[in-house]
Amino acid sequence: MSNRIAVVPGSFDPPTLGHLDVIRRSAELYDTVHVLVVHNPGKEAMLPIAERQSLLEQSIAEAELPGEVIVAAWSVGLLVDYARDVNASVLVKGIRSQIDVAYETPMAIVNRHLAAVETVFLLPDPAHALVSSSLVRQVAGLGGDVSPYVPAAVARFLDTGARDI
Ligand code: PNS
Repeated sequence: MSNRIAVVPGSFDPPTLGHLDVIRRSAELYDTVHVLVVHNPGKEAMLPIAERQSLLEQSIAEAELPGEVIVAAWSVGLLVDYARDVNASVLVKGIRSQIDVAYETPMAIVNRHLAAVETVFLLPDPAHALVSSSLVRQVAGLGGDVSPYVPAAVARFLDTGARDI
């Protein structure tokens, strides 16, 4: 059987426990998973892309996931160009609600038109259904405790005040 390769793309600004849950499920389904930090021009970023990549690497190392999980960043060109470069036939997205379905569906269809790349939607653990990076940004920015919502490496990073960079 051929090597099954998937890309899990996102802004990851910052990575949350919901993201880590989707990455874990992807690692259980596919032989190789590329977790790809992508610049989203529609969102004002809190963290530089290199910082998000480093936090994902630490969080994934601490989570001891199965299989091969690679963290990379992509800021130039289409997401499907990266997928093609690494021979991935699948993009994986986490779906928390109907709002996510509405947001993700057009992107999935466009990505399939652009390249022969399917999008697979995974349902995260309901415990993470209400967690989003934007909520974490808001709580952290106002000095609240975000440790219930993010991997330990991200909580440590946000707790040191390093987010003011
Ligand atoms: O975590 P996000 O912000 O919801 O992730 C959205 C993201 C970055 C995956 C999406 O904006 C994206 O795919 N950007 C890459 C640019 C691209 O390929 N656009 C055309 C197809 S949608």
